[in-house]
Amino acid sequence: MLSIRLENLSHTYQRGTPVEKTALHNITLLIEPGMFLGIAGRSGSGKTTLLQHLNGLLKPTSGCITFNGSPMDGHGMRDLRRRVGLVFQHPENQLFEETVCRDIAFGLSGTGLSPAEIDIRVRGALEAVGLGETFLNRSPFELSGGEKRRVAIAGVIVTDPSVLVLDEPTAGLDPRGRRELLDHIVALRRERGMTVVLATHDMEQMARHAEQVMVLENGSSALFGTARDVFRDVGTLERVGLEAPRITILMSKLKKVFPEIDDGIVTVDAAVEELKRLHRRQGLRWRDHDERCARGSVCCREFGSPPVGPQDEDPDGDGIYDACISC
Ligand SMILES: Nc1ncnc2c1ncn2[C@@H]1O[C@H](COP(=O)(O)OP(=O)(O)OP(=O)(O)O)[C@@H](O)[C@H]1O
Ligand SMILES: [Mg+2]
Repeated sequence: MLSIRLENLSHTYQRGTPVEKTALHNITLLIEPGMFLGIAGRSGSGKTTLLQHLNGLLKPTSGCITFNGSPMDGHGMRDLRRRVGLVFQHPENQLFEETVCRDIAFGLSGTGLSPAEIDIRVRGALEAVGLGETFLNRSPFELSGGEKRRVAIAGVIVTDPSVLVLDEPTAGLDPRGRRELLDHIVALRRERGMTVVLATHDMEQMARHAEQVMVLENGSSALFGTARDVFRDVGTLERVGLEAPRITILMSKLKKVFPEIDDGIVTVDAAVEELKRLHRRQGLRWRDHDERCARGSVCCREFGSPPVGPQDEDPDGDGIYDACISC
């Protein structure tokens, strides 16, 4: 288990030259073991710069970063890179071996693992990203973009890092490819208890998976909190050039008509639950379209009539009338 603390961390590129650029300003952040942290922000806001500090690739210009309370120098850099696996933006550009198997195994060179152990790890990593064994002996260069991306991610998770840092891992993939890749990452986190830090422009994805979100604006933290708190601040998101998930925007518009509605909804599933809750509060029961009401009439199925009325039945005694308005 590894916790990473950033305190007033700033980073300036090309310091002391006419082109110096401060990409991060005074970032303070605690990444606790097992956390799923999202980093959002427009292009150039500092996401990659922040992520590259997490495995020691970049060093702070001022402020500090500690790993389980120790500064980076206290750990061997090699050990740190194994414990914090960083998947670069467009990692597929870094595949270079002749076979997928050798590319994935590269991260294990120098670990002292036996060939049999390496083989087990490589197969496990390939499976974890949703690719079958048939890929093992293929050349990485003849794979599709999405497959290459998965192989590159497998090459990082093969070292079994405590923290997996992903820099826009789904950029350029089709909607299904994006969803599948994220599902694999979520499953990995669940199975191995990994910490995940994910930078993405995709707010829907962030809303679905991230527990905590930091929004960067010109290298500073503009918003930090739970996904729910961050995404309900539609005004700040717009100011920094981002958009809340569409479902959050819809729910906040609905709130103007139904004031009791919760406008901090960030996923479609949560929106459905909220609409059911409202429906129930009015003494009505939400019915899926293929259910019948207590009186079993076909009409309620055909027309989706809501259940209603004191004259109707309440067979399960939950205080909600179960017959339909048309029965
Ligand atoms: N090696 C570098 N030298 C000088 N400036 C740099 C360097 N790398 C990044 N920058 C600048 O630092 C700022 C932050 O860049 P960074 O790559 O961290 O942004 P980002 O949020 O990851 O953007 P994107 O979404 O486009 O990947 C930008 O203004 C960028 O031009
Ligand atoms: Mg970037």
